[in-house]
Amino acid sequence: DTAKALTGKRVLITAGPTREAIDPVRYLTNRSSGKMGYVLAEAAVEAGASVTLVSGPTALPSPQGVQRVNVTTAEEMYDAVMGRLNEADIIIKSAAVADYQPENVATQKLKKVGKEMVLRLVRTKDIAADIGKRKEGQFFVGFAAETENVAEHAREKLARKGMDLIVANDVSTPGAGFDGDMNTVRVYDGEGEVLHLPLVSKKEVARRIVDLISERWTGK
Ligand code: PMT
Repeated sequence: DTAKALTGKRVLITAGPTREAIDPVRYLTNRSSGKMGYVLAEAAVEAGASVTLVSGPTALPSPQGVQRVNVTTAEEMYDAVMGRLNEADIIIKSAAVADYQPENVATQKLKKVGKEMVLRLVRTKDIAADIGKRKEGQFFVGFAAETENVAEHAREKLARKGMDLIVANDVSTPGAGFDGDMNTVRVYDGEGEVLHLPLVSKKEVARRIVDLISERWTGK
């Protein structure tokens, strides 16, 4: 019975996209709705955990019983997560964090000038990679959104970012990945594939991931 398998455990979950400002009226973002992370938060609460949800901008209501921390940019998400790392037993990173941000944020709205414009981007901090370096016994679950060579890319990220499990979505599968209510995933640990779910609801994906974590969490 895994119904209350996470009682007393503190789970930190990230969800949604980030927004990187270009000027006061424009930003760069991605297609994440936050749905996957929010149902993970619900499933963790149902399993008895105390849940903190660090969320990028979404249109979703807060799940019952969750402590929600709203952030906008990758840098804000980095600070919110790193500041709470020591208080977490389990970390699940389902947010779609920007890899690049504009090098400079214009203080005034950019005007149309020439026929072309160049927007210079610089790398954001990799939250997952730093969790991998700094964690002390926390169980760490990452996500990978891929469009090709899914297993290879996901397993490379798991190893490089020090994750215990990685949930890979093939976001080129129709009806899966970003925004919808369904997903299809393959979960890997350092040895290989540990779970494959065909197209099912994100709620079901979340429950199965929480079950896997419960089975594998051995204590800090
Ligand atoms: O929100 P939904 O609409 O429900 O969609 C769900 C989802 C497709 C967004 C989700 O299932 C998912 O795959 N989330 C991860 C998306 C992603 O950014 O994957 P990635 O392969 O680019 O990054 C790999 C990992 O590194 C992720 O855990 C990501 O949070 C993390 N990362 C990436 C960049 C960065 N600067 N910091 C990070 O921590």
